[in-house]
Amino acid sequence: MASSNKITAPELRARKGRGPKIAAVTAYDATFARLLEEGGADVLLVGDSLGMVVQGQPTTLGVTLDEIIYHGRAVARGSERAHLVGDMPFMSYQTGVVPALEAAGRMMKEGAFEAVKLEGGALYAEHVRAIVNAGIPVMGHLGLLPQSVHAMGGFKVQGRTEAAAERLVADARALEAAGAYSLVLEAIPADVARRVTEAVSIPTIGIGAGPHCDGQVLVCYDLLGMYGELKPKFVKRFAEAGKLVVQATRAYVDEVARGEFPGLEHSFGAPKELKPAPEHTGAKPVVAGTPPSYGPASDES
Ligand code: KIV
Repeated sequence: MASSNKITAPELRARKGRGPKIAAVTAYDATFARLLEEGGADVLLVGDSLGMVVQGQPTTLGVTLDEIIYHGRAVARGSERAHLVGDMPFMSYQTGVVPALEAAGRMMKEGAFEAVKLEGGALYAEHVRAIVNAGIPVMGHLGLLPQSVHAMGGFKVQGRTEAAAERLVADARALEAAGAYSLVLEAIPADVARRVTEAVSIPTIGIGAGPHCDGQVLVCYDLLGMYGELKPKFVKRFAEAGKLVVQATRAYVDEVARGEFPGLEHSFGAPKELKPAPEHTGAKPVVAGTPPSYGPASDES
């Protein structure tokens, strides 16, 4: 059963204009989900960015529906309160309304998601309508569409002409009319994002779309300073966790090389009847009586 303080799609939709602004972040596993939720994230998005930041691919195109479902289950196990959204991967919905409905259905049944996100505007209004009619909340995604990276000529800012800005507003209205409960706006000028935000009654969630959106989303590895392949202007590193990982690993490697780790405090004791290790091995005797299990996550020996 959903926890009583669970953040839901209707609740997020109701924040439009009233606030607080929605803070969304991507997550791909249970440990990060737990930490990001503890940090107060409202929405955890299993983005197809996992193809780039987790799998090391140059684009999001290779991510499969099974992979999104797998990561969705992991994130669901690590979180309780945040709203869980899953990206519909490339070619899971582009081929038609029925495949889109089937893919969204699998994500909800097998991936434990509470909403799905798909890229594209009016062209996908029928897909959105069918999914929403099946009782599945849909988050739209306009502006830079990473699944269309080749058609767009790279990861480039969109909506820079008046015609393109008007198309974005029309697409946003079409998605709202089709039943979408929120919209990601990626890499568009701040003024255009403001126009889109004012044109619809569902919340806009910006990434590289300036401060006028109803919320923001960032890739967790960007926010934490752990992903160095692409450095878009819109990314703010709220920490340098990547540097911490390198520092900690260096310290570990150094202690292992010098035989300093593990010490006795990180070693299990043997039952009393066991003979002590022969002197010539150089192995230090370990205090007997320690339970032969990993034990609880505490400082107990
Ligand atoms: O895949 C993703 O992480 C996304 C966000 C950047 C919005 O779609």
